[in-house]
Amino acid sequence: MIALLLILVGLGWVLVFRYRRRNMYKLAAAIPTPDETNLLVGVAHKMMGNTEEIMSSLQRYSYDSMKHNGIVTMWLFHILYFVSSNPFDLEVILKTCLEKDDLHRFFRPAIGYGGIFAPVSIWRRRRKIMVPAFSPKIVHSFVGIISEQSEKLVSSLSKCVGKGMFGSWPFLSAYTLDSVCKTAMGVNINAQAKADSEFLKSLNRLLNVICERIFHVWLHPDWLFKQFPVFNEHQKCIRVLHEFIDQVIQNKREEFQMEKISKDLEVDTHYDLGSHKSKTFLDLLITFSGDEKGYTNVELREEMLTLTVAGTDTSAVGIGFTLELLAKYPKIQENIFQELYGIFDGSERALVKEDLEKMKYLERVVKESLRLFPPVPFIIRKVLEDTRLPSGNVLPAGSGIFVSIWGIHRDPKYWGPEAEHFDPDRFLPERFNVEHPCCYMPFSSGPRNCLGYQYAMISMKTSLSAILRRYKVVGEPEKGPVPRIRVKLDIMMKSVDGCQVALERRPTKLC
Ligand code: HEM
Repeated sequence: MIALLLILVGLGWVLVFRYRRRNMYKLAAAIPTPDETNLLVGVAHKMMGNTEEIMSSLQRYSYDSMKHNGIVTMWLFHILYFVSSNPFDLEVILKTCLEKDDLHRFFRPAIGYGGIFAPVSIWRRRRKIMVPAFSPKIVHSFVGIISEQSEKLVSSLSKCVGKGMFGSWPFLSAYTLDSVCKTAMGVNINAQAKADSEFLKSLNRLLNVICERIFHVWLHPDWLFKQFPVFNEHQKCIRVLHEFIDQVIQNKREEFQMEKISKDLEVDTHYDLGSHKSKTFLDLLITFSGDEKGYTNVELREEMLTLTVAGTDTSAVGIGFTLELLAKYPKIQENIFQELYGIFDGSERALVKEDLEKMKYLERVVKESLRLFPPVPFIIRKVLEDTRLPSGNVLPAGSGIFVSIWGIHRDPKYWGPEAEHFDPDRFLPERFNVEHPCCYMPFSSGPRNCLGYQYAMISMKTSLSAILRRYKVVGEPEKGPVPRIRVKLDIMMKSVDGCQVALERRPTKLC
């Protein structure tokens, strides 16, 4: 009798729940669903595996969406998501759905309300303060630091030369972390010299734990997460990062106090960018937010962590996939080497800003690498109100949307029948002619796009040119034009094998 009563109450609750969401079900029913959708759990059972299996499910739904005018539904139990790869729809979505999905809340204990995942109400002010810090003039003033770190990368890689295949990922992530920490906070983490750096270890472990939490639903509720041993590790990593950054901020405040720099700087929209040439992002954010009356120390820490999280692995992934691709396509690598030889004349001189502008072929290679292997393959946004799209579909309020950068970048509708080929020359100005700007968006699009895209291009071109001038990157050559690299979703999209390549030293002078 009690069991029957419980069943009836349960059924009643389900009916009321579904009735309240009838608009959502009606609108979702008009949009195709992947074949593997289960009536009860949706596709949640396909998201239970490891990070490679999760990535491969999301790739399948992206290909499904290409077949269905750029959109499919993706139910995770009762939560409705869509996977979209239609650039016309995505332009609207990225302009109107600015709120990040709830899954990003797992970053909050670490980075608080740092701009990248903050609610729109907080993000707007933070973005306004951050934008001038990324002006081309300021970003270019970092070339010296980035070049110095690239040279350190070349020398730390030297111990792997001639030793066969090795995973280059730890070298690349240490390089990007050192560059970002030096340009953002003015501190030498020295991750390239010390693989056991507390900061690096804590950052890497924290990102792993957050990723685990996102994909393992039993770790979602805070009270349950606290019962697992991983919670203590999570807290310890956050403590290490916070204490380190807090100390840097404290020192910077004292420096500001002593030098009275704030007196000379105006706090409104008329930034004198010329006078900030050699400043770090931390200096700039203190000044642009209004000095003592501006950001609190906690807000500064949140923004520093945002830059560290947003700027480190993303660029390292971009460099890593490019190296793996070049190992597979030796002819393309040879073209880069010839270009670099022309620029540096075989000398060992350090790179200067003007060299970067001459690396046209390398730039096309990096762009093509970011097209086929975008470090951020999906962006997840919340849909707060019913949103009509140019395709005619309507996204219901309360759903979420996976913007499939992976999908748009590989859709033959926009890239032709050879969409999956590795062909850097498709970015030649005379050949590049996509139907819509959102067909190519490794750095996203719209008001919440990546602020660091110029910084990232400088960092990737500088480090790749430093490596490729000195070393030949070797691997198993690809048999056809479609590169096969196993990938996983580990916050970013990463190479499963940790960017395996071998290195051979180049002769200093060509015969
Ligand atoms: C290849 C390297 C990189 C890629 C592919 C990349 C890609 C992205 C993407 C897809 C977003 C999300 C945009 C959205 O939700 O629509 C983003 C946001 C962001 N990125 Fe990057 N990024 C890279 C490097 C960097 C670097 C080096 C920095 C800074 C040093 C940086 C700073 C940021 C910031 C601050 C945001 C948040 C923007 C906002 O919400 O207002 N990124 N990036």
